[in-house]
Amino acid sequence: MPVGINYTTYDGLREVPAFDPGIDNDNPPSPVSDLRKQLSRADGIIICTPEYAFGVPGALKNALDWTVSSGSFSGKPTALITASTGGENAHEAMVKILGAIDAKLTPETTLLIQFVRSKMDSSGIIADPETLQKLQSLADSFINLV
Ligand SMILES: Cc1cc2nc3c(=O)[nH]c(=O)nc-3n(C[C@H](O)[C@H](O)[C@H](O)COP(=O)(O)O)c2cc1C
Repeated sequence: MPVGINYTTYDGLREVPAFDPGIDNDNPPSPVSDLRKQLSRADGIIICTPEYAFGVPGALKNALDWTVSSGSFSGKPTALITASTGGENAHEAMVKILGAIDAKLTPETTLLIQFVRSKMDSSGIIADPETLQKLQSLADSFINLV
């Protein structure tokens, strides 16, 4: 991210309880209100996910389900990175899910990185020049969208 862009990493996924429409109201469990508060404060959101068992990881999907009624993603500039071995299924599903919750997503703010482990160095940093370039281009598009 360029200088002047502040970002935080959301670290609460494992605290978010299983979605339950019976308690999906204005006074939800505190990890859910914290998630909604953090989303509402953000000018834009970057989601980066692997694929598990040919789908979106359950914890991520669960958290997104809590944002349907709150409209937290509605009109919110969003970037999606699926970084996995294959990842096509999760990526396709995430584009649909983000569409359903009205996130502001464009083809330029989505990126599927396949065989991601082969594109990282031993410390987990992306080392593949083509992937780096794609990430930079996604970041530029995302900032423009914001
Ligand atoms: C339980 C489990 C299921 C997985 N299923 C898939 C899958 O269906 N498709 C895929 O592309 N990768 C799958 N993977 C590989 C992950 O995408 C891989 O872990 C991902 O590249 C993230 O890298 P990391 O494990 O270094 O965080 C799976 C990994 C785990 C742990």
